[in-house]
Amino acid sequence: MAFEMITNRQLIFGEGKLKELVNLLKWYNKKKVMLVTYGQHHEGYKMVSGMLEDAGIPYYAYPVSGEPDLHVIDHGRDLFLSEGCDCTVALGGGSVIDAAKTLNMLSANGGFTEEYQLYGKAVTKEPPLFIAIPTTSGTGAEATKTAVVINNNNHLKKSLYHTSMIADIAILDPTLTVELPKKITSATGMDALSHAIESYVSLNASPMTEMYGLKSMALVNRHLKTACFEPENIEARAGMMLASYLGGCAITAGIGIAHIMAQPLGGQYHIPHGDACSIFLPYAMELNLPYATGKYADIAKALGVDEPGASNETNARNAIARVRQLQQEVGAPDSLKGYIKEEPNMEELIDVIKRTTGHITCNPRPLTEELMREIFTLARQ
Ligand SMILES: NC(=O)c1ccc[n+]([C@@H]2O[C@H](COP(=O)([O-])OP(=O)(O)OC[C@H]3O[C@@H](n4cnc5c(N)ncnc54)[C@H](O)[C@@H]3O)[C@@H](O)[C@H]2O)c1
Ligand SMILES: [Fe+2]
Repeated sequence: MAFEMITNRQLIFGEGKLKELVNLLKWYNKKKVMLVTYGQHHEGYKMVSGMLEDAGIPYYAYPVSGEPDLHVIDHGRDLFLSEGCDCTVALGGGSVIDAAKTLNMLSANGGFTEEYQLYGKAVTKEPPLFIAIPTTSGTGAEATKTAVVINNNNHLKKSLYHTSMIADIAILDPTLTVELPKKITSATGMDALSHAIESYVSLNASPMTEMYGLKSMALVNRHLKTACFEPENIEARAGMMLASYLGGCAITAGIGIAHIMAQPLGGQYHIPHGDACSIFLPYAMELNLPYATGKYADIAKALGVDEPGASNETNARNAIARVRQLQQEVGAPDSLKGYIKEEPNMEELIDVIKRTTGHITCNPRPLTEELMREIFTLARQ
């Protein structure tokens, strides 16, 4: 067995811990912050900007709306440099964190996002200090070295990554998610669950990623419904925030067929990432079942639906049933119907998948065109 694991240098978790940001910036003696942020009308933004102002720490606020593309990131890098920033703070969901992660890397390494995304330009310099503060609970982007970026030239949604791009510090404060609408809470929660499940059955899973994955699943199972229906329940929000973080740690083991489909199709049809993952997850489990039956049986245990003494196959099916039940309970999307109106050109779609995630080989069932077609057809029902 051989594996590599990369994690943040520091993780700060808990209600009210947002206030640690100022102490950290002071300790690192930072002069000006590039604050990549979600909407400035949100409470979280008001808290962070207020804190920085009170502490006399200069910052430049760069709002990012929607999933990031090349232009947003390259422009952000220019602003980082022209504003004389010396560190980056991301305050937002996966979109904001990925934009911040990439522009922070570019600020030290030069060049354009596309060169790293498509043409293998090497990251050679350590990026400035990067602190990630998530405001959604789904992507776990604060725990990964990866950024997902929409390429404006070929419209593909493709990842770029480097070990040095992971946030140095992650601050997880569940108070930031209490204003997250139910629709986003539910779909992003299913994204976290899909990271945990896909990484657990991945052919590249390690004892470390399995440990993170199982804990993440158990937390989603316990807290997602409450987080959706009692938005101010801090225990549930904290549980989901941790689940998302642990899912991000687990996904080092690689994505599976749900993400292999969700990422390119999300880019192609403008389907929010969490929605796309929610739709594909149960079908991915069904199609993979014969190739990872024992592992899905373990998942049933983590989800509290294993029957002692029953066969692995029965327990694996219990796990799938529980995922569908949870999806239904929280009203997360379960079909592509509402997102894809016209009959798609299958050849073109397969080509898009092949050019983005089609090279990934750690799904337990070998990735073939037939498998892509089959899961797509199921998800359109
Ligand atoms: N880097 C990674 O490892 C990784 C992993 C999975 C997904 N992703 C990427 O992350 C992106 C999706 O991120 P996401 O699912 O977190 O969604 P998001 O960041 O796009 O946010 C979704 C919406 O929620 C709003 N929002 C965020 N926090 C809020 C809050 N607390 N209250 C109210 N509204 C809030 C945002 O403004 C936005 O409109 C996609 O591009 C996806 O591909 C990255
Ligand atoms: Fe995801």
